[in-house]
Amino acid sequence: MKGKDLLSVNDLTVDEVYRIFDLAQQLKARQKKGEPHHLLKGKTLGMIFQKASTRTRVSFEAGMWQLGGTALFLSASDLQIGRGEPVKDTARVLSRYLDGIMIRTFSHAEVEELARYADIPVINGLTDYLHPCQALTDVFTVVERKGRAKGLKMAYVGDGNNMVNALLHTCAKVGMDISVATPPAYAPNPQVVLEAKAAAAEQGSKVMLTTDPKEAAVGADVLYTDVWASMGQEAEQAARKSAFAGYQINEALLKLAKPDAIVLHCLPAHRGEEITDAVMEGPQSAIFDEAENRLHVQKAIMALLMGD
Ligand code: CP
Ligand code: NVA
Repeated sequence: MKGKDLLSVNDLTVDEVYRIFDLAQQLKARQKKGEPHHLLKGKTLGMIFQKASTRTRVSFEAGMWQLGGTALFLSASDLQIGRGEPVKDTARVLSRYLDGIMIRTFSHAEVEELARYADIPVINGLTDYLHPCQALTDVFTVVERKGRAKGLKMAYVGDGNNMVNALLHTCAKVGMDISVATPPAYAPNPQVVLEAKAAAAEQGSKVMLTTDPKEAAVGADVLYTDVWASMGQEAEQAARKSAFAGYQINEALLKLAKPDAIVLHCLPAHRGEEITDAVMEGPQSAIFDEAENRLHVQKAIMALLMGD
């Protein structure tokens, strides 16, 4: 995978997904034992942020340090890109200084352009369209908890946003059924649904769309939700609050899933909206393990793409 970009899980092979998971598991074990694992000694990652972040910023930065390298936080508003310098120029200049770029921004096309012009790996740290590092972490967490992903069922309840788009790609890739419940006007991206259905067909798994959270949740091994209004949708917050009423993971919905189902949320969460406090803090929540795993999975991604 050396030298590749990671913009979408749909671009990965099944084998590549499991290479990431295997290395993430090894790096997690080594970090817990306190064993040095300087796979990126002397390397530098640039991290461009056009949106806020807690997990992505801190896990990439700490991860790079743990791998023996260094990470630069580059706020888009401080870069010349924020004053109109073309992405294609930024890509070529940063390629002369750095060994990899992680970018979080609005437009997915901007990340594709950056990757086209950069000759170092570009990692998508979230766009309005996809959040691949999070979705890989989520399925890694499922494998860690359940011993496998193939043949299990994820139910996603809420907005058909960047998060569910990435989960559709990732679940389908590993042969996990995914059932998505959204209000009719907030369904996932149709192109992503087509891609996920094609990948699921290869694995013999299913992709289901519904408007009924209960229908999605029945018999699920994993319940997943995300915020009703994503970054950049602040003006729609009130309208979304009424559109999404009922699209909540609560104890009643959790009862419809398998008794040993786990609950995931990429965070940050709005308790009382897409998820209740009782479920977040309850025994079936794997949410904070999931957040921790961002570190281990992204270290594996960086080591595979940027390592020698
Ligand atoms: N889940 C996630 O990407 O969190 P941040 O927005 O804090 O990076
Ligand atoms: N859908 C959310 C995910 C945050 C990690 C957003 O884009 O704001």
